[in-house]
Amino acid sequence: MITFTLTDRDGKTHAIKTTPDGTLMEAIRDYGLTDEFALCGGHCSCATCHVIIDEAFLPRLSPVSRDEGGLLDGSDHRAAGSRLACQVPLDATLDLAHITVAPVD
Ligand code: FES
Repeated sequence: MITFTLTDRDGKTHAIKTTPDGTLMEAIRDYGLTDEFALCGGHCSCATCHVIIDEAFLPRLSPVSRDEGGLLDGSDHRAAGSRLACQVPLDATLDLAHITVAPVD
């Protein structure tokens, strides 16, 4: 099991304990955050799964792909820790991370 902290778009913080499997997007969606989140179902085409991950964790993650980067470039809320949660494998590298769901563009 891993645990990460998630701040939702209303500013509420949740401690999510989950099995390290699938993607970060799936873990957030399965936890119950579905309002205007992950609308394309993980096909890297909507950017509604935009999250901002603690910068300290970024070196542990796979690089941002061209498609992911292109979608993030279209966001007014892109930050140094921006990722599309559907493109981030959920594994032990995210244990104890703090993640914020980006506002809707
Ligand atoms: S779920 Fe649509 S881009 Fe990630």
